[in-house]
Amino acid sequence: MLKVEQLRWATVEELMRFHDKKVPFADWGIKGHNRPFILENCKFEKGMKVVEVGGAYSDLPQYIAQNYGCEVHVIDDFGVESGEQLWSRWGSREELAQKNPDVKYIFERVGNSNNPTIPLDFYDVIFSVSTIEHIPHEAMFDVFTHMGKMLKKGGVMVHCIDLQIPLKLHKTHDLKGLLLGTIGYYLYFMLSTPFAPAQKPQLKTLRGWKSFLKKTFKDISFDGVAVDGAWTSAVDTNIVVEPMEIVYSIYPPKNEAKLYRRNGTFVLIMRKL
Ligand SMILES: C[S@@+](CC[C@H](N)C(=O)[O-])C[C@H]1O[C@@H](n2cnc3c(N)ncnc32)[C@H](O)[C@@H]1O
Repeated sequence: MLKVEQLRWATVEELMRFHDKKVPFADWGIKGHNRPFILENCKFEKGMKVVEVGGAYSDLPQYIAQNYGCEVHVIDDFGVESGEQLWSRWGSREELAQKNPDVKYIFERVGNSNNPTIPLDFYDVIFSVSTIEHIPHEAMFDVFTHMGKMLKKGGVMVHCIDLQIPLKLHKTHDLKGLLLGTIGYYLYFMLSTPFAPAQKPQLKTLRGWKSFLKKTFKDISFDGVAVDGAWTSAVDTNIVVEPMEIVYSIYPPKNEAKLYRRNGTFVLIMRKL
C-alpha cells in the first residue's frame, strides 16, 4: 500500500528557511528549493539504497553518497537511447560517471518494469528533481507503476515536479482574457479531471495529479492530505516560481523577451507500507 504524505506546492517560506539554515544547494529558484528539500526530507542514513530518477548533471547524488554513506544510483539515459539530444547538451555521460565515482549511473529510462537492469523492490529512497514534468503524459502510468515496484516496503518516494500555476489571463489582459483564461480553464480542469484515464491523465493541476495517482495505484491513501484546487493555487503568493532570469535565458527561444508565465514547483511524498 502507498501512503501519500504530501502533495503540495513548494513554498517561498520553506526556501528562505533552507537558505537561513545554510542547507547545501539552497538558492533562489526552483532547483534551489528542490535539492535542499530532498536533503531535509529523505532522512538519508548509511547503507540506504537511493536513486535519483533523471539525475542528469546534478551534483546532489554524489553529495548524498559522500556525506551520508548511501549507495546512490542515477537512472537517466541522458536522451541518448531515447533520441532527445537536448539532455546530453552539457557533456558526455561517461565522463560525468568518472567525475562522480561514488554514484552508479544506469543509462536507462524508468518506465519499463521488465527492464532487468533496473532492480525491483530495492530502493529505500527514490527521488526526482525537475524530471517528471518532462515525461510525456501518456508514459506517466508506466513510469509511476515502475517506480512503485522499484521501491522497497517501508521506502519513500520524493518527487519535486514543476508545474505551471493554473489559471491565468488568456492572451488579452481584459475581461475576455479573464473569462476565457481563469474561469474557462478552471471549469475545464474541474470537469476533465475525473474522466481522464490513468493512461492519458490531466496533470495540469494538483487535483489532476491526485486523481492520476488514485487511478494508477489501486491501494493508495490520501488520509489527512488536503490538496489545493486550481483556484487556491492561482491566488497563493507563497509558491516558489521560476525566476525571470531563468525564463529569459534558458527557456526557448533563449535570451529573448517572451511572455512570463508563473512556473511553480510542487512536492509529492509517498511511502510504501
Ligand atoms: C531537467 S533534467 C533533470 C535535472 C536534474 N534532476 C537536476 O536536478 O539538475 C531531466 C532529465 O530527465 C531525464 N529523463 C526523462 N525521462 C526519463 C525517464 N523516464 N527515466 C529517467 N530519466 C528520464 C532526461 O534524460 C533528463 O536528463
